[in-house]
Amino acid sequence: MKYQKVGDVVIVKRELSEDEIKEIVKKTKCKTILLYTTQITGEFRTPHVKILYGEETETIHKEYGCLFKLDTAKIMWSQGNIEERRRMAVISNENEVVVDMFAGIGYFTIPLAKYSKPKLVYAIEKNPVAYYYLCENIKLNKLNNVVPILSDNRDVDLKDVADRVIMGYVHKTHKFLDKAFEFLKDRGVIHYHETVAERIMFERPVERLKYYAEKNGYKLLNFEIRRIKKYAPGVWHVVVDAEFKAI
Ligand SMILES: C[S@@+](CC[C@H](N)C(=O)[O-])C[C@H]1O[C@@H](n2cnc3c(N)ncnc32)[C@H](O)[C@@H]1O
Repeated sequence: MKYQKVGDVVIVKRELSEDEIKEIVKKTKCKTILLYTTQITGEFRTPHVKILYGEETETIHKEYGCLFKLDTAKIMWSQGNIEERRRMAVISNENEVVVDMFAGIGYFTIPLAKYSKPKLVYAIEKNPVAYYYLCENIKLNKLNNVVPILSDNRDVDLKDVADRVIMGYVHKTHKFLDKAFEFLKDRGVIHYHETVAERIMFERPVERLKYYAEKNGYKLLNFEIRRIKKYAPGVWHVVVDAEFKAI
């Protein structure tokens, strides 16, 4: 049986029999079993849920030495992004300022701030529930180099501050590239996420990056494309690490 464990909560995608519930509880020692009833949708990525066992949906998930507090009934946890969270943990360094434009509960911000120890991470999140947990997770992980900002990232007035911008969002992400270039210093890296059909996955994200770079007075110096996970049949969630220089 397929399930995902997030802290003390087990998440399943179909109804379970009494026996199956007992088996999962015995095997995982979980406190709650939650059924995600439909695809996670919308800009806030809120799940639709039904509790199959237990009551408490808030939990603390441990991953890679980081603590992530979240309410699994209100906030998604993507197991498929685990490698990317690990990669982001060590991507930066002590000389950098980072802007995480879609911070959520701190999926990338927390490991990056903890292990790369940049000067500062501006972590922007517009959903008040996710923002609450982002603040909790900054405290839980005892980080003093993260500035959480509750806002739509397009309304944040920070110019030329970032050596690195993370765009961990996959719904028309290119529409946020103008803002990403506003955050970026004269030279820097953007981690640009996109969901894209397999047949154009090595062209479209880069074409978009080049287009927006030129529009904002930047040149694409180099890039690397990685697959994060299969998003739908024939569709991939990819990330492009792209370095730019102002012209
Ligand atoms: C769910 S996270 C992405 C998943 C995450 N990268 C991971 O590893 O699982 C995306 C977040 O972006 C937030 N968001 C969406 N549009 C936004 C905007 N315009 N400004 C700031 N935050 C935004 C959503 O509320 C959500 O919390």
